[in-house]
Amino acid sequence: MPAMPAGQNKKSSASLTRTPAWRALAEHRRTWRDRHLRGLFAADPQRFSRFSAEACGLLLDYSKNLVTAETLELLLALARERGLEDRISDLLAGKRVNNTEKRAAWHSALRAGHAAPREVRGTLESMRSFTGALRAGAVKGAGGRPVTDVVSLGIGGSALGPALAAEACAAEGGPRVHFVTTPGEMLARTLAPLDAETTLFIVQSKSFSTQETLINARAARAWLENSRGGADPGAHFAAVTAQAEAALSFGVPQDRVFPMWDWVGGRYSLWSAVGLPAMIAMGGDRFDDMLAGAAAMDAHFAETPPERNLPVLMALGGLWHAHFFGMDSRAVIPYAPGLELLPAWLQQLEMESLGKSVSRNGKPLRHDSGAVLWGGAGTEGQHAYFQMLHQGTRPVPVDFIACRAPRAGTDGETHAVMLANCFAQSALLMQGVSATETEQDLLRQGIPAREAARLAPHQALPGNRPSNTLLLDALSPRSLGALLALYEHRTFVQSAIWDINAFDQWGVEHGKRLANSLLPEFSSAAPATAHDTSTNGLVNYVKKMKTEKP
Ligand code: F6P
Repeated sequence: MPAMPAGQNKKSSASLTRTPAWRALAEHRRTWRDRHLRGLFAADPQRFSRFSAEACGLLLDYSKNLVTAETLELLLALARERGLEDRISDLLAGKRVNNTEKRAAWHSALRAGHAAPREVRGTLESMRSFTGALRAGAVKGAGGRPVTDVVSLGIGGSALGPALAAEACAAEGGPRVHFVTTPGEMLARTLAPLDAETTLFIVQSKSFSTQETLINARAARAWLENSRGGADPGAHFAAVTAQAEAALSFGVPQDRVFPMWDWVGGRYSLWSAVGLPAMIAMGGDRFDDMLAGAAAMDAHFAETPPERNLPVLMALGGLWHAHFFGMDSRAVIPYAPGLELLPAWLQQLEMESLGKSVSRNGKPLRHDSGAVLWGGAGTEGQHAYFQMLHQGTRPVPVDFIACRAPRAGTDGETHAVMLANCFAQSALLMQGVSATETEQDLLRQGIPAREAARLAPHQALPGNRPSNTLLLDALSPRSLGALLALYEHRTFVQSAIWDINAFDQWGVEHGKRLANSLLPEFSSAAPATAHDTSTNGLVNYVKKMKTEKP
């Protein structure tokens, strides 16, 4: 591991909103008062080719962003002024960019192929061989029967990435792979149809101390012990962790403990051994393809000039809409079967990374940082929350994601329906429908003039609502790897412009600590008094009502 000093960049130390580039953007924003995307498209037949870029099997159409060539120039000037290039080099070189935890965030090294550190290559090799044996039916439970079901026990970054990749890229054959995050019912429901003799659990926890995961791991061990395969529960466990000792004491056999390292952040860990359940679902070769796709995006990020650099363009467009148009949330909407879990993965990636209030040197920010990210499958969303996207008073920039070619098992017609809906939504958000157009349309339908005039304002759509469309070649492991790495780097670029640390999560850590200290209160005979009156009151209410059935 490299142990170079933190790459603190002198250029980024000035308050963002006082920089010349920021001021120039604020000035430029005034020119947008009377602009509408519809007009920009009408005036420039080349707008799509001018504002789209392609890399690693992905096409980014950002022509429906609220940008002109001048906007883009000013945003690129901001990136230069914030020393973005140096920050990217520091990240990819494995410098200690996580300056509060004094470590690197070197997820790019996990997918660097032959150039990856030796321990990374060694771990990937063991993962491949374990996966190969599992998929060939050669890994047996204590009773000698081959494993048919793998249950991943992990949460947050130790679940979201592998669950997404397994869903998107699973291949025929091999054991079924299940993901359990929440203790209690979710585990019970997953285990109900399974046979303990042929079930293997993978405890996925970098810290091996996450409450939910450990509760599930203990419950799984008890389930094995109470079942027929209970003779040797260890034979039914593997673990992925940076705390090997803890996994061994839990009873995981040594050769089934897959390491990860402190320089791999939870939300960036799919590419490490945390990806094991995904590798089991898709097979070693496809997992390698996913790594290769991500590595291709790393190379693109490192080498491509900012004006054609996909993560940079997406990050800058996002900043522009958020800061200068007050768009305070963002939706990510896949129209691609298999990518339904993408918004949840992204939510952790962005909101844990960018939800910060101080700069890297601990000074309060004078500007907003990460926005709320939300979303879900487009086919469902357009029958639910899209109403607000089209006509609500709070415009929300959207990333639409679709695939050029259909997924195996989806016929061409179904795929065309998917694309038509996806493109229609972004077109409508961009162009809107004016009250006059609506009124004329109603009149054409034979609606009386007074009624048409009454209905027109209700049916009109403002338009001018920005979106990106990301078009993948197909939903392959390679394009998935590129897509996820693209979002990782987009997140990093924003953190660099804001001068925040994208790689710690102290808010989450405080929450975990407080939950641990609250837990004993529920079994204590004495009333809770150590906390604020609301928290004490809630704990004491639960204790008082314990005997009463709801
Ligand atoms: O609760 C948030 C978090 O700390 C994430 O950053 C991490 O991905 C998750 O918990 C799980 O942590 P672990 O892998 O240590 O169990």
